[in-house]
Amino acid sequence: MRRGKRRILKAAAVFMAVVLAMSCVNVAEVQAKEKEKNIVVLYFSATGTTKATAKKIGKKTKGTVIEIKAAKPYTEDDLDYSNENSRVVKEHESAASPAKSKVRPKISNIKAIKKAVKKADVVYIGYPIWWGEAPHIVYTLVENVSLKGKTVVPFSTSISSGLGNSAKHLKSKAKISAKTNWLKGRNFYDVPSQKTVNNWIDKLKY
Ligand SMILES: Cc1cc2nc3c(=O)[nH]c(=O)nc-3n(C[C@H](O)[C@H](O)[C@H](O)COP(=O)(O)O)c2cc1C
Repeated sequence: MRRGKRRILKAAAVFMAVVLAMSCVNVAEVQAKEKEKNIVVLYFSATGTTKATAKKIGKKTKGTVIEIKAAKPYTEDDLDYSNENSRVVKEHESAASPAKSKVRPKISNIKAIKKAVKKADVVYIGYPIWWGEAPHIVYTLVENVSLKGKTVVPFSTSISSGLGNSAKHLKSKAKISAKTNWLKGRNFYDVPSQKTVNNWIDKLKY
């Protein structure tokens, strides 16, 4: 082989080795990030979509997944938004937005949630979109569980609406401090694939 060609091949090999080494460092960094942080994934789910999504987030982050349990669970009739007397319609019509409402459904496992969140660095908060907003019970959560100094990652599931202002409205009522890192969050239409969840989380900065 001519000397010039050999030199080019050598340079290409060195370049490839550097690229490979850099990608290994990145993977190691991501893995270290997930290991050192204490992560809690909280979710409220009435029909299972947000629950399935939360589980995928838990799998990726190795976080503790905890359901936000309504002390009075929502029945199928409660969730009937076509009935003007249903529980969700009454909650919805209690004020112009859930942030302004006094309706705060009780959470039966609030003590366990508080205990887990106290030790956490990162708290994912998931919910279904109801009339473009987080359900009132998620307000019960953020108004009663301190998120001071935590990184908060909101996520939602819906049929057609996006996250909209739901997370911003929640933040406006949450127990937070200047050190709380409240991320933008995102919505998923139905249950996302594990790959979609993984790609999203890999890009989060915490
Ligand atoms: C009371 C109520 C209101 C809803 N409002 C909306 C909405 O405004 N936009 C939307 O895309 N989906 C809406 N949906 C559909 C849910 O957001 C969607 O099915 C969600 O993924 C359900 O999550 P879950 O199975 O975890 O409860 C609503 C559902 C209910 C029960």
